This record gives sequence, C-alpha cells and structure tokens, in this order.
Amino acid sequence: MPREELEAILLVGGKGTRLRPLTLSAPKPLLPTAGVPFLRHQFARAAAAGVTHLVLATSYRAEMFRAAFGDGSALGLSIDYVYEEVALGTGGGIRNAASLLRSGPDDPVVILNGDVLSGHDLGAQLDVHRKAEAAVTLHLVEVPDPAAFGCVPTDAAGRVTAFLEKTPHPVTNQINAGCYVFTRSVIDAIPAGRVVSVERETFPGLIGSGQTVMGYVETAYWLDLGTPAAFVQGSSDLVQGKLASPALPGPVGPYLALPGATVADGATVDGGTTVGARAHIEAGAEVHGSVLFDGARVGAGAVVRDSVLGAGAQIAEGAVIDTAVIGDRAVIGSGNELAKGVRVWPDVRLDPTSIRFSSDA
Ligand code: GTP
Repeated sequence: MPREELEAILLVGGKGTRLRPLTLSAPKPLLPTAGVPFLRHQFARAAAAGVTHLVLATSYRAEMFRAAFGDGSALGLSIDYVYEEVALGTGGGIRNAASLLRSGPDDPVVILNGDVLSGHDLGAQLDVHRKAEAAVTLHLVEVPDPAAFGCVPTDAAGRVTAFLEKTPHPVTNQINAGCYVFTRSVIDAIPAGRVVSVERETFPGLIGSGQTVMGYVETAYWLDLGTPAAFVQGSSDLVQGKLASPALPGPVGPYLALPGATVADGATVDGGTTVGARAHIEAGAEVHGSVLFDGARVGAGAVVRDSVLGAGAQIAEGAVIDTAVIGDRAVIGSGNELAKGVRVWPDVRLDPTSIRFSSDA
C-alpha cells in the first residue's frame, strides 16, 4: 500500500453500559455529539492524518453502523465492517478486523477507540512509529491523577518499559490514551477467535518478549467519553471550539442549533449546548452545556444544566434538571426538580398530570 494510503481500525463493539439509557437505542460511537454521530469526528481526524480505508470492529447493535455510514463514499472514505457475534475484547476485535486490511506486513495501521476525543497529532505519532520501526506505538497523555488509571512508564528514548495496572502509587503520570499504531504483522500475531485484551495481554506480552513498543507523549485535548458527564463535556467542547472538528455541522459558538430547531426569544442557551433537529426551547428556559437530541422539548422557565435529553424527551414548564440523563421520549412534568445525576429510562413519565408547554396553549 502506498505510504499516503493509510488504514485504521475503529473499535466500536462495546455495550457502553456507563452511558445507559442512551446506549439502549444506539451504540456509544453513534450517539449525536455536537450534532453528528460521534464517529464522524473520529473519521474527520483520521482522514486529516491521511487515513483512506477504515475497518469498523462492531458487535453491539452492529447493523446500525452500516446503516449510518454505508461504504463511506459519501464521506470520501472507504469503510468496511467486521462483526463479533460474541464481543472479543479490544485485542480480539483488532485481530478480527485484520481479515479486511489491505496493508502489507510492515505497514502501519492506526487503531482508534470509538469513544475517545483527542486533539493529538496522529501524523507525529506515526512518525515516531516509523522512525523506531516499532511493533506498536501508543499515544500517552499525562494526567494529574494517574492513580485512577493504569500507567505506562517510558525510558529516555521513549520506549515503553512496562504496562502497569491501576495502583495507589503510580510510577508515572503517563496513561494509555487509547490510540495505537500497530505494524500490520503484529496484528496478525494476536491469537484469533478468542477474547484478548490489548491492555492486559498484547502490550505486556510484546514488552516481555523484548519487542519495541514506543510511547508518543502528547498532552493535547483528550477526553474519554465513557460517562454521561464526559459525554456532555465532549459535545459542548466541540460546539465551543475547544477542540476543532471538521465534522462540526455549524459555526463554533455558545450553542449549535440543527435544522428545524427553534429557540424562543427570551430563552438562554449557552455553554456549548446542542439543540437537535426539530427540538424546541421555550421562552424563559435556561439550557446550559447540554445535549438535546432530535425533537426534545424544554418548557418555559425550565432549567436544564449539563444534561442529555434523548430523542423526543420533554422537560415541562418550570422543571429543573442538573447532570441528568433523560431517556428517549421520557417526560418530566411541570415544576419537578430532579436530584442531580438522575437517569430516567426511555418512555418514563414523571408526574404526567402536570405537563405544561406554553407552545401547546
Ligand atoms: P462501558 O460498558 O461503559 O465500559 O463502555 P464500552 O463497552 O464501550 O467499553 P470501553 O469504554 O472500555 O471500550 C473502549 C472502546 O473499545 C469503545 O470504543 C468500545 O466500543 C470498544 N470495545 C470494547 N470492547 C470491545 C469488544 O469486545 N469488541 C470491539 N470490537 N470493540 C470493543
């Protein structure tokens, strides 16, 4: 494969349990993030680094990925899909995707997690990989509290010396950021047909057998969108331009309104909120740093802070929610003040006797 034609595998097979109930109807990598499925931001970044062919390693709700992106031609990419009937873990998923790779044994292959938002320089990570003729090159970020993660020490030449599990006394503040460059032949050497974790098995195995595993340390914007709080933060950061994304479907600003969305005069909408297609916010409502999926409604005087409203969810007049996740079509009746961090399952109707919207009057 010519040098400029790069391939990437995207790991998108996880169940996204920490983001339930949003992930009951769609897998995490397809959740609308700053107005487009999250993967669109990943695709745009990969394409900017020269990736032309993508293999999506799917399992949970696999059919939804092909329905969303087809063969990729509308996005200027070539996209293939592999399926794991039983999820094979990160390493097993990468190995399973190898059957559709076109690269030769010595070519680099980029691996991206389907839920990490990163502003690092993928081209520079590839350069480190090529220069060192490494088996694998990992993107590492430095975090203030490495005890919450496994840590990844490197030597003076940037070579990874160990892959350590979570410990109260980490030896370094460098952690695995979830974006790898693998030499193709190293992917083919991962055992096929069984569950494999790259973090627990592949990387420690490569280091133990003396192969070159490089760390590319760059602490750019980096966020793992695994939790509801991180999901709303990632989306609002993209809308506000804290991380530039060519996939953002509108100008950077205090909020993003998709086609058919309406924000009444006298409503306050800011903090990088996304107002989904045909979603509606009434006068006097305050919506800060939130994600409103298509068709969601916020009534007059209601307050929505750092929350996600699923498709068609309704927050009636005067209700207050904070860091909440409201499932698709759920309804929060007028004047309800929900405890912080509440998750409401799809179609639940809280206090349905008093659901007022001034636009219904
Ligand atoms: P939680 O259940 O909330 O932990 O989320 P998750 O299932 O997505 O797991 P995690 O956040 O650890 O996964 C990181 C990335 O790897 C995500 O993009 C997942 O979609 C993906 N992933 C996790 N497990 C598998 C797997 O078994 N197969 C494949 N193909 N991808 C996986």
